[in-house]
Amino acid sequence: MTQRFAGKRIVVTGAGRGLGFTFAERLAREGASVIIAEIDPVTGAEAEKKLCDAGLVARFVQTDIASEASVAAMAQEAARDSDGIHGLVANAALANNVGGKLHDEISVEVWDRIMAINVRGTWLTVRAIAPLMKNGGSIVTVSSDTIYWGPPRLLHYVTSKSAIVGMTRSLARELGERMIRVNCLLPGLTMGEATKEIPQTRWADYAERTILKRTQQPDDLDGAVAFLLSDDSKFITAQTLAVDGGFSMH
Ligand SMILES: NC(=O)c1ccc[n+]([C@@H]2O[C@H](COP(=O)([O-])OP(=O)(O)OC[C@H]3O[C@@H](n4cnc5c(N)ncnc54)[C@H](O)[C@@H]3O)[C@@H](O)[C@H]2O)c1
Repeated sequence: MTQRFAGKRIVVTGAGRGLGFTFAERLAREGASVIIAEIDPVTGAEAEKKLCDAGLVARFVQTDIASEASVAAMAQEAARDSDGIHGLVANAALANNVGGKLHDEISVEVWDRIMAINVRGTWLTVRAIAPLMKNGGSIVTVSSDTIYWGPPRLLHYVTSKSAIVGMTRSLARELGERMIRVNCLLPGLTMGEATKEIPQTRWADYAERTILKRTQQPDDLDGAVAFLLSDDSKFITAQTLAVDGGFSMH
């Protein structure tokens, strides 16, 4: 595999499992020293072990992205023994078991929790990591293609993921003068731990509505993340990239 990230340190939030782990593994295979910023101590440590056992460079730093103090501590630890941070995938979010309720059934507590993690957490992460990108860098935020088709019974999540697109654009303007690019990935419904309870009929329906007529897998996404983090996309910033087999168009 090409070594586009040799000598680079990249933080991936929520990399204990799911898409975040797939992104961390891909970036490490391309030479990055990866920081796994994950709230779950078990999956975080397991992810570090899996990557290190494979001869890759990875370190788990337990982090709650919703907490200002936790994110600040993670950033300090992430930059230790390095010339700074070169890349960030702000992937962590509350994404599983969140659906099912209509707009007037969601409690204020659940709404606030989704916003605190998915929106405030993404902002806090970028705010802590960007100053450590001393010679420029690249940030990938993670939204969802649900923002284009507005599924019901998921209002708080879809709203939080819509916020990530606006946040990406404003951040790109503010950070551009420091040669930091910010782009947003919008995955379609993807097989993984977070989506394993989804019934087969819904997977089949979703696959049918993609142009490419199949179910999306985590390794359909990691190439796009690596591209956006690498110099191969060096003049791309403030953009949104839907990776969903053509399910949505924009
Ligand atoms: N899987 C999909 O179908 C899909 C589709 C569109 C968008 N996404 C987005 O992709 C990203 C990853 O989703 P996934 O399917 O891998 O979900 P997941 O639930 O499998 O993984 C999310 C990870 O984030 C961690 N996390 C949760 N709260 C955290 C916090 N406060 N601080 C730090 N880490 C925290 C979790 O412990 C978990 O390891 C999310 O932003 C999600 O919204 C996923």
